[in-house]
Amino acid sequence: MDYRTALVTGASKGIGAAIVDGLVAEGLTVHALARSNDALQALQQQLGAQVKPLVADVRDHQAIASALGSTEIDVLVNNAGGLATVRPLHEQSAEETAEAVALNLTAPLQLIRLLLPGMIARKRGHIFNLTSTVAGAVFPGTTTYGAAKAGLSQAGRILRFDLAGTGVRLTEIAPGRVQTDFYLKAFNGDREGLRKRMHSEQRPLDPADVATVLVTALRMPDHVDIAELTVSPSEQATGGHIYPPAPQR
Ligand SMILES: NC(=O)c1ccc[n+]([C@@H]2O[C@H](COP(=O)([O-])OP(=O)(O)OC[C@H]3O[C@@H](n4cnc5c(N)ncnc54)[C@H](OP(=O)(O)O)[C@@H]3O)[C@@H](O)[C@H]2O)c1
Repeated sequence: MDYRTALVTGASKGIGAAIVDGLVAEGLTVHALARSNDALQALQQQLGAQVKPLVADVRDHQAIASALGSTEIDVLVNNAGGLATVRPLHEQSAEETAEAVALNLTAPLQLIRLLLPGMIARKRGHIFNLTSTVAGAVFPGTTTYGAAKAGLSQAGRILRFDLAGTGVRLTEIAPGRVQTDFYLKAFNGDREGLRKRMHSEQRPLDPADVATVLVTALRMPDHVDIAELTVSPSEQATGGHIYPPAPQR
């Protein structure tokens, strides 16, 4: 693999931390971005000096630009994302609506804009956008989040025209339900309630499953661009909110 360096956003836990692990195992130096310094330090302790903690808010692209300086990034993983509540749009505050777009759509676009010129100049790059099955299906109470993910998905399709022939690939990964803290805020921190409602009756994906898929796309020969991937738990109906009954195990 020609890639040497990566930037992974939302790297302090969940899917992002698993992706850092997967990329380090491939021999890359990984700039791991999140707001929680302690968690990033712990990740570095666990995985070694190839992990470079970058404490920043992903919405602050100017701070990220100055922290990176002239660092060359071959692989950008736009993973940081989230939602504060699951409820109808008219029950969201104006700030929550604006922040969901800033985090899930504006921030990844700004990072692509920032890092793409270097990738194109080096004729070497791979961008991963973590969207969600909510980008193409109706999950009640996620209007802004789903719209932002759908926007990022469509941005990738359009951007791929600019990238054709440049040596830079773009892969969208749309996961179904993954067992992480993602909905914890929406559950008011009730971890047991979250486990019972979201992660116990049907088996969700593990963050490492998503990381394995990403590394597989990254390892394909450079004439192959895996454009879009949907990764669902086998017990979750693809692209929808409805679960089939769990099979007998
Ligand atoms: N879990 C699922 O079921 C699921 C399904 C489909 C798609 N996804 C997508 O997968 C991605 C990862 O989700 P996850 O499940 O791993 O979530 P998670 O466990 O809640 O982790 C979110 C990560 O994003 C970081 N983050 C959040 N806001 C940030 C900000 N303003 N600046 C910098 N970092 C920020 C968090 O770190 P700090 O708090 O330390 O900043 C954390 O590392 C997201 O884009 C999500 O939309 C998740």
